[in-house]
Amino acid sequence: MGEIAAEYWKRRKGFILAAIGSAIGLGNIWRFSWLTYRNGGGAFLIPYFIALLIVGVPLLILEFLLGNYFGGSSPKVFRKIRDNLEIIGWIAILDVFIIGTYYAVVLAWVFDYIWLSIVYAPQLAAGQLSASTLFSNLVSNSWLVLVGLAVTWFVTWYTVFRGVSEGIEKASLVAIPLLWILSVILVIRGVTLPGADTGINWYLTPDFSKLAQGSVWIDAFGQILFTLSIMAAPLIVYASYMPKKSELPNSAWITAFANCGFSFFFGFATWGIIGYLMSLNNVASPEALKIPLGGGGLAFITIPTAMSRLPGGPSVAAVFGLIFFLVLWLAGYTSLISIIEPVYAALRDKFGVTRRQTVTAVTIISFIIGLIFVFKPNMIDPVDFMVGSTNLVWIVLLEAAVAGFYLGVKKLREYANPYAELKLGVWFDYLIKYAAPISMAIILFYGLWFTKSISPVSLIVMVALLIAAILVTGLKWKTELKETVTAEV
Ligand code: PHE
Repeated sequence: MGEIAAEYWKRRKGFILAAIGSAIGLGNIWRFSWLTYRNGGGAFLIPYFIALLIVGVPLLILEFLLGNYFGGSSPKVFRKIRDNLEIIGWIAILDVFIIGTYYAVVLAWVFDYIWLSIVYAPQLAAGQLSASTLFSNLVSNSWLVLVGLAVTWFVTWYTVFRGVSEGIEKASLVAIPLLWILSVILVIRGVTLPGADTGINWYLTPDFSKLAQGSVWIDAFGQILFTLSIMAAPLIVYASYMPKKSELPNSAWITAFANCGFSFFFGFATWGIIGYLMSLNNVASPEALKIPLGGGGLAFITIPTAMSRLPGGPSVAAVFGLIFFLVLWLAGYTSLISIIEPVYAALRDKFGVTRRQTVTAVTIISFIIGLIFVFKPNMIDPVDFMVGSTNLVWIVLLEAAVAGFYLGVKKLREYANPYAELKLGVWFDYLIKYAAPISMAIILFYGLWFTKSISPVSLIVMVALLIAAILVTGLKWKTELKETVTAEV
């Protein structure tokens, strides 16, 4: 077992763009616009913004500080806080690992769609083929999905394999600006289409009566965790690659606003296009289109349907289809990177394993487990309900409570403030100690209460995850003796 040299970002900009890359993902594009519409349009921005300020930004700052202060991945962080808390770190790591196995399959669909929407542009434009048929053919064509999955994993593997500054940082410096440029093109096209304003009205017209519904608030708080990748895994590790004495709180504010701003901005492309489709079909409401708006339906059926009928014919349709799926793929790719890196970092911290071999092994295993979702796409939803939604809430609840009550937020605040562009006040302590755990507890309770039945698949995944976490926590630390007292800064 050789010494592993510490890795760092080359520039602060690289760190921030990588964090933004983790945050902006599939969730921003198809989940946000849909949630906003369903939950009262412009009025939803109120709970969303409150969730962002009360739990989103504080938890993001907390994860940056934890990672940087303790200099490592979440099992190491929790263990340094208190020996028997290590398991929380492993639950988070195993959870993000499972997210990666199906997230990559959805990205594989996106990848395949990049060229399907070019190849089939003429048939789509002529109405000989519907986007929903194309999509269901794709999902059931396992070979095609396998190719997309292999390419997606290969690119992700190569990026993480190259390391923090040579791989992740360089990829983010290219992917995130490109993502914004392409999105600007889509938004301009979206809002200038005939009928766009009707769609945008549906997106943003506030229905304040919705705010009385508990589920609207749950959606807002749940979306904030997922969209900012707050789950005690990616961001803790990313922040550990910043040198000590770095600016952290303002970097968290920038990350949060870039992410949520992107969601809001991209909604104009989505809803401009939906408005165009409504005017083509002479219908007055989005539901009357009779095509799915929720979940993947928006990205894989509604938008491609509208794209195929853009003014200018099949080649214009193909170009915009290409841009749209490229945006989705880039957004998801930089998130997938941030899913593999913490898994590697946790194994490195505990077992002293090297990057190249570990990243290769983790990628291959993720690919193999992902085959389940290639052949049984119906399993994605119940698994996502557990590891992509419910688990985040209680992991974060524990994270905030442990940091607030065991470690002491004040200590972290005093650690960060000398180098902070935006100083943290006592408000930070209160939000972490009380606001975050209490709101998480409420969401958890409501969420489980309103879920009529938790499927067997969700339960099996949960039990497997917990057993694996217990086992890996029980293994011996091989790196113990080399530990330096990084926490004593
Ligand atoms: N934030 C990503 C998205 O919005 C998803 C993600 C969650 C990535 C958790 C990493 C960890 O798509």
